[in-house]
Amino acid sequence: MKALVIGASGQIGAMTVRDLVDFYDAEVIAADLNLERVKKIASSMKGGNVKAIKLNATDSSALKKVAKDVDVVINSTWYELNIKIMPVAIDVGAHYTDLGGFYDYTFKQLKYDKKAKDAGVTCVLGIGSSPGITNICGAAGAKKLDSIETVNIYCTWGTKQKTMDAAFPAYSVRTVIDELTQKPTIVENGKHKPVSVLSGETEVLMPHPAGKVIAYYIKHSETATMAEYIGKGLKNVCFRIGFPANDFNTFRTLVQLGFGSDKKISVDDSAISPKDFITSMYLEALAASRKTSGMLDEFDFFRVDCVGEKGGRPASVTYYVRTWNDPKRGITSGRDTAVPPSITANWMVTGKIKKRGTLPPEACITPEPFFKELGKRAVMVDEEFLFSTPFY
Ligand SMILES: NC(=O)c1ccc[n+]([C@@H]2O[C@H](COP(=O)([O-])OP(=O)(O)OC[C@H]3O[C@@H](n4cnc5c(N)ncnc54)[C@H](OP(=O)(O)O)[C@@H]3O)[C@@H](O)[C@H]2O)c1
Repeated sequence: MKALVIGASGQIGAMTVRDLVDFYDAEVIAADLNLERVKKIASSMKGGNVKAIKLNATDSSALKKVAKDVDVVINSTWYELNIKIMPVAIDVGAHYTDLGGFYDYTFKQLKYDKKAKDAGVTCVLGIGSSPGITNICGAAGAKKLDSIETVNIYCTWGTKQKTMDAAFPAYSVRTVIDELTQKPTIVENGKHKPVSVLSGETEVLMPHPAGKVIAYYIKHSETATMAEYIGKGLKNVCFRIGFPANDFNTFRTLVQLGFGSDKKISVDDSAISPKDFITSMYLEALAASRKTSGMLDEFDFFRVDCVGEKGGRPASVTYYVRTWNDPKRGITSGRDTAVPPSITANWMVTGKIKKRGTLPPEACITPEPFFKELGKRAVMVDEEFLFSTPFY
């Protein structure tokens, strides 16, 4: 398999390159805006066939030149670029994955379904941890039930270590800021309904050691597709995030200081938006700190509750997705987002995914074998099936 990973020096992209090398012996072109940073990633892949290149993915002719020689394009940049990168992949006849369209962009991408079908390629939209694994959990729950009414998704992360350090975003600071400033949409009674940022406060029990977590609605892609693509009566879908207190305070402070703004401000002779400024600052800090400690101390957890009926009785299926940092391989818990694009790329290229078009994960990925693949990387999925038996 020959794969082009765009954004390959980012937090997620770098780990996807690693997975493609370690698990599929893939030939990888690792592309990013910054050649120095991506060269470092390529040289850290011992024994891997990884070539680092400088590429601005918004330059469609430059992208086309590279993409025409690969089987699959893995887009690990940020969501606004999906609509620039995916059409080029379709044009050159390469399969495609990304990490989510942040709700709105997903709809723009779905409009390319016919073009992708005509080109004989599959574009899997939003295949990370969430969106990604959580969508597949929803599809798995629906398979177990006769009908499904509600899917509630929850996410949290944290560390066992006591620290005085400020929180460090586990993924793109740009997305974190967007999540805290843009209105989420939930699906309620079959209708897509915008709600306020951080509304829907709910206490949820997450796996140990997270325990009880307060979670709120934030904008995410799962609600864009799950009701429509899973079907079987699904009419309520929402995504809630349970921030660790330290992270919540850091991110909210950044937003309150105005770092969420796209409006350029002038400083001396140059002009830059606060959001571009902090994105650039954080990537430098990230490159300097790419290490994981020697302990199992950092976790990423998801919970997906699927509620419906089985045999005419109320029933529910809950999925717990747990990932700890892997000190042996020196990989963070963020691999739960980086591994799914690698597995999906392999499945598209080897024909395990047969459907063509622009599809969310719940529409084209078979859950159980996918969960087993995740398990090989210690991304652990547990299923809990609850239904009552009447003795009357
Ligand atoms: N589905 C999920 O579960 C999930 C979970 C976490 C994150 N995400 C999403 O995944 C995306 C990547 O996250 P991340 O944490 O890896 O972000 P990141 O660390 O900011 O990495 C993004 C990379 O893309 C590069 N890039 C930006 N514009 C580019 C362009 N025009 N051409 C080529 N490369 C470009 C960036 O380069 P520069 O640094 O030079 O700009 C950076 O190296 C984000 O959108 C995030 O929201 C999804």
